[in-house]
Parts: sequence; structure tokens; C-alpha cells
Amino acid sequence: MDARNTLAEAQPFADEFATAVIDGLGARAKHIPCHFLYDARGSELFEKITQLEEYYPTRTEIALLEKYGPRISQLVGSDCAVIEFGSGSSRKTHILIESLQDIAAYVPIDISDKALSEAAEALRKKFSDLTVIPVHADFNEAIELPDAVSGALKLGFFPGSTIGNFSHADATRFLADAGELLGQDSAFLVGVDLKKNTDTLLAAYNDAEGVTAEFNLNLLERINRQLDGDLNLEKFKHEAVYNETEGRIEIYIVSLEDQRLSVLGRPFTLTRGERIHTENSHKYSIEEFGAMARRAGWQSDEVWIDDRALFSLHFLSRN
Ligand code: TRP
Repeated sequence: MDARNTLAEAQPFADEFATAVIDGLGARAKHIPCHFLYDARGSELFEKITQLEEYYPTRTEIALLEKYGPRISQLVGSDCAVIEFGSGSSRKTHILIESLQDIAAYVPIDISDKALSEAAEALRKKFSDLTVIPVHADFNEAIELPDAVSGALKLGFFPGSTIGNFSHADATRFLADAGELLGQDSAFLVGVDLKKNTDTLLAAYNDAEGVTAEFNLNLLERINRQLDGDLNLEKFKHEAVYNETEGRIEIYIVSLEDQRLSVLGRPFTLTRGERIHTENSHKYSIEEFGAMARRAGWQSDEVWIDDRALFSLHFLSRN
């Protein structure tokens, strides 16, 4: 979700965006990777999504963190180092840090320098004696933790159901790699969106006000702006469907007519009804996620859910 946020307009990634769009629009099943949704405007719109009535995940997870903060603190004890994958919503980090006692250090890992320095600054301001050690890295690749935390017990933090944006295979691999990184006796707090009735899910990804549609279609504006595109937004619409078999919400941009486009001087054609896939958001039952965590070498110690069973917080550990 907010994990890779402002990867956005950073210059070194401009070519990466170009390659992804050219390849993605040229493919038989058109697709553009979801992290490109989060340019400056996209991040702003996503923040708006998190405040929508229909978008239950953010507020539900925050309430769970508030409620179970003392329990988390009890489980990890004092002096642990908190390692966050993606700088994420700082609100959640603040709640977690407030709940814990005597943290050895807070280590946010993010691909965006800007998101990292902003998160670090806000935390240092609020918690004056907290040691913040930002690590600028892509958490999908091999990472090294700073020497300063080598002796501390680690608590990993991966909120927002960002894990749901991975395929099952990639999610399992991510959990296993995180386990290697965090090491012996570590714990991992992971926010996971739960399977539930389809209407509730669909509303969360297709709100009445149209903020989600604007967020998704902003990708087309970004193509126009950064890749010299000539896309007409009126000729597209946002679509969210629930794929029951795969247990995931799928997000698409749908072409409303047969049309030709140009991006970086290259021609593309779309037929009426053809879709560009922009996001998957996998939903898990408590048992499904627990089993996946175990396959990745974690022990599932405790799971907390809200009383409407919308969202889950998994406390995993390793020995
Ligand atoms: N990771 C978030 C989620 O799966 C991101 C998200 C929310 C999203 N709404 C969206 C992505 C709409 C694309 C389109 O909940």
C-alpha cells in the first residue's frame, strides 16, 4: 500500500516507469505494476482513500494497534529494535512506538528517500530520545540491517495489508527473507486484510465518491505528464472485481472504446472493454495466513481481529 509511496517522481526511477509502461501496454494482457500509482498526486489520493467510510482497513488496523499495543509490548519486552518494511503510514508507527518500552532503535526501510527522511524527522521530533536509523533500500531485494542493531532483538512491522499486494508465492518468499533478516528470537507484526462478504470488499475499492477511481486513473495522467502520452481520461473507467478463486480484489483500468494511444512516441491500441491490470489485493482467512507464515519459517503466536472480523494483526515469532 503506502509502502513504496513516493518512489514517484524521483528521477532515477523515470526509466523504470517508462520501461514498465511500454512493456505493460505492449503485453497481450496489459498491466502496469501497482507501485507506480503512488506519485505525489497518487499518494495524496491514497491518503484520502484511507479516510473514506468504505475503506475500512486503515481505521480498523489503527484501532487494533491501539487496543493490543500493551499486549505487543508485553510480548516483545524492552529494548527491541523495530524494523519497518516501507515507511508506511506514520500514524501506525507512532502508535506502535508509543506502546513499546525503551526501544533500542527504530529502523524504517524504504525505497523512497523522501518518505524516509520525512518519517524519520517526524519521529525524532515526537520521541526525542528515540534512535532512528533509516535504511534506503528496496525491501524486495537483499538488505542489511545497520550494525547498531545487531545485538538487539528485532520486531518487524509490516502494516496496511501491503502483503496482500504480493502473489502468494512472493508473499511467502518475502516472509521467509524477512525472517532471515530479522534473525533468531525475532517477532513480526503483520497487518492482513480478511476475507469477507464481496459487497464490503467491492465498496472499499470502488467508493461512492469516486476517490478510488481518481486514484487509479491518475496513473494515466502520470503517463501523459511524464511519458509524453496522449491518453484521454474520458475514454477509460476504473473497475474493481473480486476474484473468488484467487481470493483477491483485482483493479483494472478499462478502455471504453476502440482507441489508439501514443506513449513516448510509440503507438498502442486498445479495444473496447480491454483492461489494463493495475493492482491485486489478496485477502486471507486467519488460517490461510497463519499457514503461509509457518511455511515461511514463522510461528503464529497470536492473532487479533476487530469484532466485525474485517482485519487481522498477526504476531509471529521465530526461534
Ligand atoms: N494496498 C492497498 C490495498 O490493497 C492499496 C489500495 C487501496 C489500492 N485501494 C486501492 C490500490 C485501489 C489500487 C486501487 O488495500
